[in-house]
Amino acid sequence: MAVPNLPFLSVLSGQACSPPPMWLMRQAGRYLPEYREIRKNVPSFLDLCLTPKLAAEVTLQPLRRFPFDASIVFSDILIVPHALGQSVTFVEGEGPKLDPIRDAAALARLDPTKASSRLSPVYETVERVVAGLPDHVPLIGFCGAPWTVATYMVEGAGSKDQAKARGLAYADPTLFQAMIDTIVETSVGYLLGQVAAGCRALQIFDSWSGSLPEDAFAQWCIAPTREIVTKVKAQVPDVPIIGFPRGSGPSAARYAAETGIDAIGCDTSLPVEWIRDTLQPMMPVQGNLDPVLLVAGGPALDARVREILAVLGEKPFIFNLGHGILPETPIANVERLVQLVKGEDAA
Ligand code: CP3
Repeated sequence: MAVPNLPFLSVLSGQACSPPPMWLMRQAGRYLPEYREIRKNVPSFLDLCLTPKLAAEVTLQPLRRFPFDASIVFSDILIVPHALGQSVTFVEGEGPKLDPIRDAAALARLDPTKASSRLSPVYETVERVVAGLPDHVPLIGFCGAPWTVATYMVEGAGSKDQAKARGLAYADPTLFQAMIDTIVETSVGYLLGQVAAGCRALQIFDSWSGSLPEDAFAQWCIAPTREIVTKVKAQVPDVPIIGFPRGSGPSAARYAAETGIDAIGCDTSLPVEWIRDTLQPMMPVQGNLDPVLLVAGGPALDARVREILAVLGEKPFIFNLGHGILPETPIANVERLVQLVKGEDAA
């Protein structure tokens, strides 16, 4: 069913749109001077996420510059461990730091009963954004996938290879499953809370799904994601869910088939012809321009955007990056990208 004037939701319901709708992962953030201006007056990044007035303002900033077809709540996937009572801080230039959880005693210190009240500022952000957005721009709510969130909770920081989290999952699957179950339960409540406050689509970010071999991918990426999707859909069946299993390679097809998601986000490494032939017959696809190419710009950007549009644009497709926009991205290149995708470029 086509949703009039809402190309993003139309595509998610299975209808191709020309030109395709577009938005950019991490479209609010440091590449925008107006974001940096607000950010410099807030002591910590988490304070920004938990101050609804400011979080709503930075959510709306990119929409004032660019005619994107969707907005995404300004928050972070690590708000869930924070809501569970784990200590989460963002160290300038170093990324997130958490008190690592590697044994049953540390896991037992988490308190899921307080999560909902600790997440309530995000719901207020959603209400404020919806009030400030034009009707034709739907707001996307999100959470991290349990595996990706667990990697940060176990490692205590970002990591190259998620080796400590993988090690714990192999050595003590019972403990690791208990951690995953806690994240699933809180994430379901978090997604439903965002929908109740006004989000009209959801995305689940599995940024580190590429670090697991196939059987572990099925156990720790597919199964918990399927559980979240099933539980959310039991309450709000009409809200489409995009899954983003970054780095999963050919396992993305199994993920698309088995998780119950409505659309799949594709990372930069997936060949566009493979996406067209394997994933797009299954469901709408989203992606997958290299964020580094958006930094570089020039003729190479033009050529690649045209190629992605030519290969994926015929069937249900949402234009996006293959990963979050980089802080060093020139705004002029984003403007050029919008022209190219919207077909307003002088060829
Ligand atoms: O897309 C959007 O505009 C919404 C906001 C959003 C942020 N993080 C804001 C943010 C979203 C959807 C995320 C998701 C997120 N956060 C993911 C999944 C997507 C991905 O990129 O793989 C992950 C893994 C995180 C965890 C995270 N948050 C890390 C590793 C970092 C530090 C690295 C960095 O870029 O500094 C963050 C911080 C963060 N999240 C920033 C923003 C705008 C930068 C913080 C700042 O402004 O100081």
